[in-house]
Amino acid sequence: SEQKIPTGHGKVILLGEHAVVYGAHAIAAPIPLAMQAMVSDSDEDGIHLIISRWGVEERLQKGKEYRYSIFNSLSLILHELGLEKENMKIEVFPYVPRAMGLGGSASLAVAIIRALAEKFKIKLSLEEISQLAYKSEQLVHGTASGIDNTLATYGKFLLFQKGNPPKIQELRVPQPIRIVIGLTWSESLTAKMVSRVRRAWENNKRLYNHIFKEIDQLVLEAAKAIENYDLEHLGQLMNINQGLLNALQVSGREIEELVEIARNNGALGAKLTGGGGGGAIIALCPENAEKVAKAIRNVGYRAYITDLK
Ligand code: PMV
Repeated sequence: SEQKIPTGHGKVILLGEHAVVYGAHAIAAPIPLAMQAMVSDSDEDGIHLIISRWGVEERLQKGKEYRYSIFNSLSLILHELGLEKENMKIEVFPYVPRAMGLGGSASLAVAIIRALAEKFKIKLSLEEISQLAYKSEQLVHGTASGIDNTLATYGKFLLFQKGNPPKIQELRVPQPIRIVIGLTWSESLTAKMVSRVRRAWENNKRLYNHIFKEIDQLVLEAAKAIENYDLEHLGQLMNINQGLLNALQVSGREIEELVEIARNNGALGAKLTGGGGGGAIIALCPENAEKVAKAIRNVGYRAYITDLK
């Protein structure tokens, strides 16, 4: 029989990033890129992590400082599942680009949790998987809203609001929504951007609460536009969201360049996705995705066309 490899989904946030940390709604959807993990028996002592594509082959050591935060996440996950003393080999196949605002770290955590649960016959509900991935995300990001681990776990088109547990509502998409993902050459600085917004908010809560409220409302409007397949309106809302993200100072030079290229080539809307600073943009392109992707590649950036559903 065909074996399904345990997976954590990559995602894009369509609207609402950053404001979501302050209780606003956000909309996110899975992308076909995912992290996969496999756990197998090992003759050797200890826990071996192998990520061939990144040149990682390590035995987990307590207290060691690692270049990849994945080791700290892994330690926490093993501890929470009571598996620290087992011998095993964990292989990871990372098909979500790292630090691009596409949910790489959360999908990695989810893939590993699922692979461990399968191997050691631990029954976990979706909520428990997501919650554990959230704990491991907090280790890396501090104040995460929980949207990344939720998407990585459920892999569905969702309207999300943070909480314990978060409120999630699946959006019914009449037809796939075609987007172009444009990648900058700079890493997304999620933690830095989240703390920049926090400082600004602390210095002027009234002003920033207004921006978050504005974003919350346009996200709710966008949820309706998605379910009605009103892409013109969705695009307009994405453009306004980008303006408000700019007001929060989480945009950047490369992001602005990509957004401009996308709009000039006929995208209905374009904005950064995820933490910002660097990372990725998304452009809503029902008709002209090829043209937009080509224009992005022509100036030396990478672009992927994908359908959200
Ligand atoms: O950059 P990413 O994919 O980790 O997305 C972060 C989304 C934020 O809203 C900026 C932070 C959060 O925890 O929701």
